Amino acid sequence: MLIVFALAAALAGGAQQAAPAKPAATTVGSDTCQACHEDIFKAFQTSPHAAVEKDARRGWQGKACESCHGAGSRHAESTDKKDILNPATATAGQADKACLTCHFSSPAQAGRLHGGHARGQVSCASCHKVHGASGTLVPTRAAAVNKSCAQCHQQEWAAFLKPHAHRLPQGAMACTDCHNPHGTLLPRSLSAVSANEQACVKCHGDKRGPFAYEHAPMRLEGCQACHEPHGSANPRMLTRHEVRFVCLECHAAKPAPSVETLPPALGGVPPSFHDLQNPRYRNCTVCHVKIHGSHVSRSLLR
Ligand code: HEC
Ligand code: HEC
Ligand code: HEC
Ligand code: HEC
Ligand code: HEC
Ligand code: HEC
Ligand code: HEC
Ligand code: HEC
Ligand code: HEC
Ligand code: HEC
Repeated sequence: MLIVFALAAALAGGAQQAAPAKPAATTVGSDTCQACHEDIFKAFQTSPHAAVEKDARRGWQGKACESCHGAGSRHAESTDKKDILNPATATAGQADKACLTCHFSSPAQAGRLHGGHARGQVSCASCHKVHGASGTLVPTRAAAVNKSCAQCHQQEWAAFLKPHAHRLPQGAMACTDCHNPHGTLLPRSLSAVSANEQACVKCHGDKRGPFAYEHAPMRLEGCQACHEPHGSANPRMLTRHEVRFVCLECHAAKPAPSVETLPPALGGVPPSFHDLQNPRYRNCTVCHVKIHGSHVSRSLLR
């Protein structure tokens, strides 16, 4: 009973408090902001977003500042930072809402909800410096992209320093050659080429297929079934230091734990003439040369 009364009182109190709330802020125009934020205003004129200031179609002509920061009349009066949205300190959700009102329909954002960054509260402003030096809004050079990603992903960056890796540290490639930082429909924000093929085949076209005889993991698990895409101590960026150990992870004649769980090996057991004691059979890809898929041989021999 007491609780109900307390609740009712609280509600009534809330309603009373809400009544004299300050009126919602209105827009005042960028000129007003300029008076106190001269440096930012000046630098802004060379930003790609200056287009917002000049173009009537978007509805923010003459008040571009407020397209991201929200209506500023209250802040312009009080100069209190509580009265204005700062995307750098707001929650990721609040900050992104401002950006997405205009950038929502970009094809690059299509996988946003699936991406780790939206889920991990990494906002647009973590990667895009709106008031940075000119040219820093979007990192375009590979080295600049990598630097921006590496500030948070040090572990991934370190992998590229292993002996066998794509040449990211040399600036020849970027994280964004394989990932879309805005998220994609594939796991791990992996970029896709034509439909949903992994971005790897954009450069490694000979591995693309379609093959008459596919090697099943290519399609099922992707290249990372056998390769470490970020770099490896093993030649060819393989997951194991010898080719055969990569193969035997799936093609091993392990006894099945029980009859019900047959077949015993994921990819089928090599025929019995494969004598693994014999060095001749140790290097699987000497015979199975078309390990990524073959047009003529079911056993991937040629
Ligand atoms: C009368 C001067 C004045 C005007 C006009 C003004 N500001 Fe400010 N603004 C300030 C001051 C002072 C601060 C620093 C507040 C603080 O650090 O507590 C500030 C801070 C900010 C911040 C940073 C808030 C934060 O969380 O650190 C933003 C964003 C901002 N202003 C945007 C704007 C925009 C957009 C306009 C125009 C709509 C505007 N300001 C107009 C004086 C002004
Ligand atoms: C496209 C969105 C966008 C527009 C347009 C924009 N800002 Fe910002 N503003 C941001 C973001 C994002 C930040 C956070 C820091 C950063 O990314 O550079 C910020 C930060 C600020 C800050 C805080 C700076 C600091 O050092 O803490 C001020 C002040 C500010 N903006 C004022 C303005 C003024 C004045 C204008 C108009 C001339 C303007 N902004 C236009 C997005 C925008
Ligand atoms: C009022 C609409 C509007 C808002 C809000 C807005 N943008 Fe933009 N943005 C634009 C326009 C217009 C351009 C100019 C380039 C173009 O024509 O596509 C642009 C360009 C960009 C670019 C550069 C694109 C390129 O290819 O060079 C980036 C990055 C960007 N915006 C990020 C942001 C971020 C981050 C925010 C939120 C902090 C934001 N935008 C908020 C309209 C907006
Ligand atoms: C994890 C870092 C990261 C985050 C978070 C991020 N971006 Fe980007 N964005 C990039 C990079 C890197 C590029 C350059 C893409 C490339 O080179 O392929 C880019 C490119 C862009 C472009 C230009 C290309 C295009 O799509 O036309 C726009 C616009 C853009 N981002 C807007 C946004 C908006 C809006 C958000 C938030 C909803 C956001 N970004 C969040 C890193 C990020
Ligand atoms: C050659 C393509 C390629 C490049 C370049 C690349 N990645 Fe990846 N990345 C992948 C693949 C493929 C996976 C998925 C691995 C898996 O599922 O086992 C992945 C996974 C990830 C993951 C998720 C890791 C986890 O354990 O869940 C992160 C984070 C990541 N990459 C960040 C980066 C960063 C940062 C860069 C640049 C420094 C980068 N990647 C460059 C292909 C690449
Ligand atoms: C501000 C820090 C920050 C920056 C900068 C950043 N990331 Fe991330 N990234 C994260 C966080 C946080 C997660 C979520 C981790 C998790 O879910 O465990 C993440 C997750 C990822 C993932 C895997 C999760 C998924 O499914 O999408 C990839 C891939 C990735 N980031 C790539 C990149 C790339 C590429 C860049 C540079 C363009 C970048 N990141 C820049 C913080 C960052
Ligand atoms: C932007 C183009 C590009 C993309 C995307 C790309 N690669 Fe590569 N890859 C290269 C280049 C170039 C080399 C040669 C690197 C060198 O020798 O420095 C290479 C080398 C390799 C090698 C080592 C070859 C050897 O002889 O040691 C493997 C394995 C490999 N890539 C796998 C992948 C996988 C798996 C993916 C996707 C997760 C991928 N690549 C995505 C360009 C790319
Ligand atoms: C079933 C395991 C497996 C899968 C899946 C796989 N690879 Fe390989 N890949 C290998 C092996 C084993 C080698 C080394 C062959 C050798 O040394 O004879 C290799 C070598 C390579 C090489 C260097 C030699 C060459 O043929 O050019 C590249 C590049 C490569 N793979 C790219 C890829 C790409 C891209 C994918 C995904 C589309 C992929 N691999 C998927 C096992 C695999
Ligand atoms: C991630 C698990 C995996 C790895 C690693 C793997 N394979 Fe396979 N492999 C399979 C699967 C699954 C099949 C399809 C089996 C089927 O269709 O019955 C297959 C099929 C084959 C076939 C054709 C067999 C047939 O019946 O069509 C050959 C030959 C083969 N693999 C050799 C290799 C070699 C050599 C390696 C090492 C370079 C290797 N595999 C690595 C899973 C794997
Ligand atoms: C000296 C050449 C040679 C080497 C080395 C070799 N194989 Fe084979 N393998 C063959 C031949 C030939 C066949 C085809 C048998 C047939 O068509 O009946 C075959 C068949 C297979 C099959 C079954 C394919 C099918 O069509 O059912 C698998 C799985 C396989 N090998 C895996 C491996 C693995 C794993 C290794 C390394 C440990 C390896 N092979 C090393 C020659 C070789």
